Amino acid sequence: MDGASFYDDNDVFKTYMQRRQRGESPNDTIEKPVMMELIGAVRGKRILDLGCGDAAFGRESLAHGCASYLGIEGSQNMVNVAKETLAGTKGEVIHTTLENWDYPTAAFDLVVSRLVLHYVDDLHMLLTNIHKALVSSGQFIFSAEHPVITSSDKGWQSGTQRQDWIVDHYFDTGKRVTNWMGGSVRKYHRTLEDYFRETQRAGFTIEQLREGHPQRENFLTDETYQRRKRIPLFLMMSLSKQS
Ligand SMILES: C[S@@+](CC[C@H](N)C(=O)[O-])C[C@H]1O[C@@H](n2cnc3c(N)ncnc32)[C@H](O)[C@@H]1O
Repeated sequence: MDGASFYDDNDVFKTYMQRRQRGESPNDTIEKPVMMELIGAVRGKRILDLGCGDAAFGRESLAHGCASYLGIEGSQNMVNVAKETLAGTKGEVIHTTLENWDYPTAAFDLVVSRLVLHYVDDLHMLLTNIHKALVSSGQFIFSAEHPVITSSDKGWQSGTQRQDWIVDHYFDTGKRVTNWMGGSVRKYHRTLEDYFRETQRAGFTIEQLREGHPQRENFLTDETYQRRKRIPLFLMMSLSKQS
């Protein structure tokens, strides 16, 4: 299944939402703190969120005074939750894929995409569309599964806690099919170099690259903190449009 249809499998969706809500999810302990630091103040900004999921980021951004928030989301299950999250706000969500949406020109100050790019096959086309949709000096800030994670899922069984991680076939980039959350999903593995080169090729200036170094104060238990220091889960990049 592709990245959007995957979340329309009701069992997968239920498992995913339960796991996101658990106390020490890596999204909350690692990805979110770094992304919030990279994003900084949103006051007055027009925000586009690609693969917005439940749009929790939209609700928070609107509460912090962003000028507008638009989420693009491919899964109907996620769109339903996003609409509930944004109810009573001026935030909006459109049900379509990142590949099929008709990107407007110079319409956003900030484009965010959190943990979605590894589901996208044609990264160049997407990055070109994002560059077009940003105003001059606009920012694109994204997180993706880290390349050491997307390279291989050897030695891991879905539903069990991973004991060790195997990095393999690192330079054989492209499609991967992984069993995850009780379903099977298609992802795309890229090297760190690929992300670097493709973002520059689309015209972006790279401002920051982060790997989600865990910070003790974000964890409830030392056990989880020690475990999360073993391997990077996320890659985050902050990019700007200079012209
Ligand atoms: C791991 S979830 C992350 C959701 C949200 N960004 C967050 O961080 O909470 C990935 C989301 O991307 C969506 N998605 C994946 N591929 C997509 C595509 N090609 N077009 C639109 N949405 C997509 C999925 O439906 C899902 O909601």
